[in-house]
Amino acid sequence: MPRVSSAFFTVAAICGLIGMVWGSYMGSSGDHALHPAHAHLNLLGWVSLSIMGGFYALPGAPAAGVLSWVNFALSSIGAILMGALLPQVMQQKLPGQAMMASEIPVILGMICFLIVVITSWRRPAA
Ligand code: HEM
Ligand code: HEM
Repeated sequence: MPRVSSAFFTVAAICGLIGMVWGSYMGSSGDHALHPAHAHLNLLGWVSLSIMGGFYALPGAPAAGVLSWVNFALSSIGAILMGALLPQVMQQKLPGQAMMASEIPVILGMICFLIVVITSWRRPAA
């Protein structure tokens, strides 16, 4: 497996673990107020990072170049900031615009991923 996939899966599993502990706490406390932050830490962290990491490990996938590492850095930072900042914004400790610090890297990370996926069309089909 390429190193970049190991990196994606490491951060994904950490986000998944924190997200699940958070969900378990919500379930036992009955306080679901921050469920969108739990949801997006899991969906951007555990799910989206796993999908990207899985793509780079596919047979015939493009060799892990600089763009795949930029993809990893942006998508990971964005997912972590989503989980960290959204509770602050929902509790009105930070303005809504603070979410741009998460959304911009998440979106740029997805643009990097899309470029790598489109580039893979140039390679012969496996
Ligand atoms: C141990 C694992 C988990 C527990 C105990 C848990 C628990 C919860 C709880 C208590 C809520 C609030 C429900 C509500 O107020 O309607 C919730 C919402 C949510 N969770 Fe989890 N969760 C877990 C894992 C996950 C994972 C792995 C994902 C995604 C891959 C996920 C995605 C969501 C989503 C999308 C919502 C929002 C649902 C809605 O808007 O109705 N959860 N979760
Ligand atoms: C930059 C990335 C994203 C942004 C800014 C964003 C933003 C939002 C917003 C504003 C809501 C409404 C929340 C509410 O009304 O309480 C929402 C809900 C939701 N989003 Fe996202 N989202 C993003 C990425 C994703 C991704 C990648 C997934 C799935 C893989 C996803 C799945 C959901 C789901 C299931 C809900 C409904 C559950 C909930 O209320 O928390 N989102 N999102």
